[in-house]
Amino acid sequence: MTREELKAAAIAMLDRAYVPYSHFPVGAALECADGTVFTGCNVENAVYPAGICAERNAIFHAVAEGRTDFVRIAIAGRSEDYCFPCGICRQVMKEFAPELEVICLNKDGQELALPLKELLPHGFDSTFLPKE
Ligand code: THU
Repeated sequence: MTREELKAAAIAMLDRAYVPYSHFPVGAALECADGTVFTGCNVENAVYPAGICAERNAIFHAVAEGRTDFVRIAIAGRSEDYCFPCGICRQVMKEFAPELEVICLNKDGQELALPLKELLPHGFDSTFLPKE
């Protein structure tokens, strides 16, 4: 999938977002090393913390399908500013793909691409945990 196609896939997911509370749709398209793409949208709930972000929706879908070799993710929103991933999503990205490229889009489809390492410097990971 080309970069433009990946961005289009994230933008297309904006229409699937379930956002009756925030009215802030987000779409995500996550690409694996062989070009396979998993998509996601945010899904909210009347019990607010039960909702999930678009990025984690896409990542967890990929993991459930046995894939963790993520190369890049496009994130679409309808705001003036680029749609940056929240802190929890950054942490989940780091778990599987510390080298991930994160492509943030604004409402016009313009992009700001950043390495995850810049979005989550000095992050926590499994190397901090005791071995047993
Ligand atoms: N949201 C995402 O889906 N991804 C982000 O990275 C930012 C926030 C969602 C969560 C919630 O449904 C809405 O946007 C407002 O926070």
